[in-house]
Amino acid sequence: MDKSKYFRQKLLHWHHTINERELPWKGEKDVYRIWLSEIILQQTRAEQGLKYYERFVNQYPTVQKLAKAPIEEVYKLWEGLGYYNRCRNLHATAQFIAVELKGKFPSTYETILELKGVGPYTAAAIASFGFGLPHAVVDGNVFRVLSRYFGIDTAIDSTEGKKLFQQLAAECLDTTSPAFYNQAIMDFGATVCKPDLPDCLNCPIKGKCTAFEQQLVNELPVKAKKNKIRSRWFRFYLLMHDGKIAVQKRTAKDIWSNLYEFPNEEYASEKEWKAADSSSTELWLKKNNIKRTYQQLSATKAIKQQLSHQLIHGVAVAVQLNGKQVLHSNREWKTVKELKQLPFPKLLNDFLKAGVLELFTWKHTTVNQKT
Ligand code: ADE
Repeated sequence: MDKSKYFRQKLLHWHHTINERELPWKGEKDVYRIWLSEIILQQTRAEQGLKYYERFVNQYPTVQKLAKAPIEEVYKLWEGLGYYNRCRNLHATAQFIAVELKGKFPSTYETILELKGVGPYTAAAIASFGFGLPHAVVDGNVFRVLSRYFGIDTAIDSTEGKKLFQQLAAECLDTTSPAFYNQAIMDFGATVCKPDLPDCLNCPIKGKCTAFEQQLVNELPVKAKKNKIRSRWFRFYLLMHDGKIAVQKRTAKDIWSNLYEFPNEEYASEKEWKAADSSSTELWLKKNNIKRTYQQLSATKAIKQQLSHQLIHGVAVAVQLNGKQVLHSNREWKTVKELKQLPFPKLLNDFLKAGVLELFTWKHTTVNQKT
């Protein structure tokens, strides 16, 4: 039996007899829900995506409901998933389907691919799960499974590699049951042929797996470029006055776009960021035209957030203004209750969870009194 046929048959047999992975979107026939699950799963592993999927389905059981929801509310539900432009696309696509397409989901691979926020992987998943169309999903999981099974060391991030794996994936696909096949390879990559510590002993295709036979499992797949991580350093100012706190929306094409944050200063180096002290606060307030007298607390402990290509470091400084201050036009005063309705990046939520708002009620622990 040829290698692709063996792969396909064993994989499907494994899926129908051994694969116990239970996920709420499996076997789902409502294309809206399939699309929703696939968009959520672009960000996160299935086990973590689960609670987001359930939240979205409960809050927006139909594409019309999602289309009608205020974007801020959708961002709030998305909070913690990251890549917020995807959330914006999700909402825009829901509106497009509900209004322009009168609620009817596109039903060919090409038209699904035209939807905002849908790339080849997601289009193949929706086309196969929703319409039984013969399109193979190709993502990191599939690269890994195929490179090991076929023993291919062509870099998966090279043009040549991408083409090669795309062809192989199409060749392996079971065109009579593409939905089962795609779900099988996703689950197999997540539970058996894992990146670290793959379960080769219980693997249904080890009989013909080149990497297993030649002990190359840990060498494959090969990547040409190493991910470069960029570090960034922020000092956030929690400006407080009269039970309210100043927030601003991030609008630039950068991390956390469309989320809320506290006014802040980004530093060019770790050294400068670490050296920042109460005089840096004073300077920042001056630059920002904040003229009220104030009290400030020393900076909180630094915390970090790892994004896919960036490592964000932040400290927060609470600044109590002793009088009403008109803010720059992109900033607003919010009560704590209002603040909790707004979508914030994880790093800032971590500050909030660590009790930074309680600094609000501080009494005489002032470290710097300016009059
Ligand atoms: N990742 C992306 N789509 C998925 C699905 N349908 N099931 C499990 N993991 C996935």
